[in-house]
Amino acid sequence: MAPTPSPHDPALQLLNSPVVIIGAADGPRRGGLTAAWVCRVSAAPPLLVVSVSPLRHTHGLLRDGGEFTVSVLREGQVEVARLFGLQSGRDLDKWECTPAVRLGTGVPALQDCAARLLCRLVGRHPAGDHELLVGEVLVSEVVGGGPALPMRGTDYAPRG
Ligand SMILES: Cc1cc2nc3c(=O)[nH]c(=O)nc-3n(C[C@H](O)[C@H](O)[C@H](O)COP(=O)(O)O)c2cc1C
Repeated sequence: MAPTPSPHDPALQLLNSPVVIIGAADGPRRGGLTAAWVCRVSAAPPLLVVSVSPLRHTHGLLRDGGEFTVSVLREGQVEVARLFGLQSGRDLDKWECTPAVRLGTGVPALQDCAARLLCRLVGRHPAGDHELLVGEVLVSEVVGGGPALPMRGTDYAPRG
């Protein structure tokens, strides 16, 4: 049997994805994380999937909040990817560190980004050490426009 590829497998690295910031809120509690494992999965209704580890602080807020935002980063917004991707909301409120807007029931999203989406959580499915969260897109808006910041190899390998 072929060995299981590592997360840094060079073939898997060719499955490029944009880097996004997922925003979540459950009442007054809010959080967010950087994600690269995100993709569109249905046109009608418009659905997307984001894969989030249950170990993330944001996971519980996503599970309980009912809505989430997706802020698509512009090329050049690497510092924002690092802010949301290399620190946990258990230690700081990341939304205090960057200008934000609120969508829907008050879910935070980036003020400055390529585009913003508001999604309603419509499904959750286990997927190995992550969970797939299915969102129906309720609101979509282009903000600064593309090109989007792509995930590049292992430059931003997930931690936390
Ligand atoms: C570029 C990049 C992409 C990431 N993609 C994901 C992802 O798709 N899913 C995930 O669960 N974590 C991903 N992470 C890791 C989380 O963003 C990171 O663990 C974060 O600190 C979690 O924050 P939280 O504990 O406040 O939720 C990524 C990190 C980076 C830097």
